[in-house]
Amino acid sequence: MIMRLFRAPGVYRPQADTRLLMRAMTDAALPPGKAVLDLCTGTGAVAVHAHRLGAKTVTAVDISRAAVFSAWLNSRGRGMSIELLRNDFAHVLRHRRFDTVLANPPYVPGPSAPPSRGRAKAWEAGPTGRALLDPLCDILPESLNRDGTALIVHSALCGTERTLQRLRAGGLKAAVVARRTTAFGPVLRSRARWLRDAGLLDPSETSEELVVIRADRIKP
Ligand SMILES: C[S@@+](CC[C@H](N)C(=O)[O-])C[C@H]1O[C@@H](n2cnc3c(N)ncnc32)[C@H](O)[C@@H]1O
Repeated sequence: MIMRLFRAPGVYRPQADTRLLMRAMTDAALPPGKAVLDLCTGTGAVAVHAHRLGAKTVTAVDISRAAVFSAWLNSRGRGMSIELLRNDFAHVLRHRRFDTVLANPPYVPGPSAPPSRGRAKAWEAGPTGRALLDPLCDILPESLNRDGTALIVHSALCGTERTLQRLRAGGLKAAVVARRTTAFGPVLRSRARWLRDAGLLDPSETSEELVVIRADRIKP
């Protein structure tokens, strides 16, 4: 499902989580003609897919200049008009509303706080893996239009139930709509011991479960 994409040095390579989110978008069969926001867009793979699925407008945001440049090339090269913003996702969510919000944020737990720059900014998410997920869950209810929907992908290592509870606390209906087990990549392999010591991983585990969570705004 992943198309050929330009990727500037240091930009996140679309992988299993990207593919799972894109498949969930197709399966969700969200009505076309909607205003879509792709948070943490990287190469823009998810934004391009949203455009292909019939979004009325697509906005994509990333904190990385190289990512925004890559997404710009990947959309323009396909003749697509996608609004690209270089910004913190939280800023955009606090100031605008959308019908559909899509997100593959950094979610890998690690010993340090997320870095302020560099390639690792694409995945590092602090000791619980929730440095970006928690604010996302908290701001989301106010940034979805009535009948709006969000699809968020992350690893179960950072707490599927915690995401569901946080979204529900904001008045959204939330459920897991897709799962996929995948072997550890190099980052998780290199910190498996830390993850075990932190109680986030059982000693025998060598794979992680990725989940896509769907959240719907059902209240006016
Ligand atoms: C896991 S990658 C996902 C990329 C792409 N959506 C995909 O699925 O292949 C996360 C992206 O989030 C971006 N990012 C990290 N912190 C951010 C923030 N505070 N606001 C916006 N983007 C951020 C990174 O630059 C990176 O491109």
